[in-house]
Amino acid sequence: MKEIHTLAVIGAGTMGNGIAQCAAQANYQVFMTDTKTQFLDRGFASIKKSLSRFAAKGKISEVDAARILASIKGTLDIKEAVHAADIVIECVPEELDIKKNIFKQLDELSPKDAILATNTSNCSITAIASATMRPEKVIGIHFANPVPIMVGVEIIKGLDTSEDTLQAAQTVVKKMGKEYYLTNDSPGFSGNRMLLLYLNESFNVVMEGVSTPKDVDKNFRLSFNHPMGPFELADLIGLDQILHGLVYMRNEFGDKYIPSPLLKKLVAAGYYGVKTGRGVYKYNEKGEKI
Ligand SMILES: NC(=O)c1ccc[n+]([C@@H]2O[C@H](COP(=O)([O-])OP(=O)(O)OC[C@H]3O[C@@H](n4cnc5c(N)ncnc54)[C@H](O)[C@@H]3O)[C@@H](O)[C@H]2O)c1
Repeated sequence: MKEIHTLAVIGAGTMGNGIAQCAAQANYQVFMTDTKTQFLDRGFASIKKSLSRFAAKGKISEVDAARILASIKGTLDIKEAVHAADIVIECVPEELDIKKNIFKQLDELSPKDAILATNTSNCSITAIASATMRPEKVIGIHFANPVPIMVGVEIIKGLDTSEDTLQAAQTVVKKMGKEYYLTNDSPGFSGNRMLLLYLNESFNVVMEGVSTPKDVDKNFRLSFNHPMGPFELADLIGLDQILHGLVYMRNEFGDKYIPSPLLKKLVAAGYYGVKTGRGVYKYNEKGEKI
C-alpha cells in the first residue's frame, strides 16, 4: 500500500482549512493552496482559532498548537503545493466543471503515483476521475463540517478506484482520528442526497410564511432532538454550496431538487452563511450568531 507522508489541500475555505489542520495534527507534512492571499489568510486564521480553542480546553498544549500551525505551508502556487504530494485532497466549490479542471491540473502537476481525492458532497467520483489519466488513484474522501470536531468521513470509490487507493485513504482517515464509512458512487452519495431535500424544503416552509427560521430551528432541536436546526446547519455548510449541490442533483434526479427561490435570493445577495458573516442569520467575526 502507498505510504503517505505529504498531503496537499486545494482550497483553503470552510473544509480545506479544517482538513489541513487535522492532517497537520496527524503529523503529515501539509501544503494548502488557494487562488488569493486573502483566502489563504482566512484559512490560516480559522485554523489558528480552532487550535486556540483546543488549547484553551486543554486538548493540546499551546506549544503544540503553535507547532501545528507553523507546520502547514501555504502557497498560491498549485504546482508548489502538489509537487511532492503523496495525496491531494481537493476542496474547491461544488461544481463539476471546476473540479474536473482542477483534477486535470493535479494529474499533470503531482507525482505520478499520488492519490487524488475529492471532498465533494455530491459530484460523481467517476466523472471527476475521467479528467485524469489515473482513475484508479482517484477517490472521494468526504469529511464533515466542522472538520476538526466531526468524526465521520464518507469514503467513496469511483468505477476504477483501486483497492490500494481505498486502503491508503482509509489509513489517512484513521490517522487523522476519524471513522470512515463506505458509500458507492451515486450523486449525493448516501447522506447529502437526503440532506439537500430537507434543507431546501426548510427554505420553502419559511418562504410560504408557514414559520420563521428561528422557530423551525427550535422545532428541530426541541422536538426531533437534532443538535442544530436546518437553518443553523445551512449557515454552517454555506448557502452557496447548498445551491451548487441542488443544481447538480436536479440535473441527476429531476425536479424534486429545484432550489428554493428564497435560498437563491440569499445566495444572490452574497449571504452565504457563517463564512461571510451573514446567511439566514448574522454572525460576528468569531462566527457567533448575533
Ligand atoms: N461546507 C460544508 O459543510 C461541506 C461539507 C462536506 C463537503 N463539502 C464540500 O467541500 C468542497 C468545498 O466546500 P467549502 O464549504 O470548503 O467551500 P468554500 O467556498 O468555503 O471554500 C472553497 C475554497 O476553494 C477556493 N478555490 C476556488 N477555486 C480554486 C482553485 N482553482 N484553486 C484553489 N482554490 C480554489 C476558494 O477560493 C475557496 O477558498 C465542496 O465540494 C463541498 O461540497 C462542504
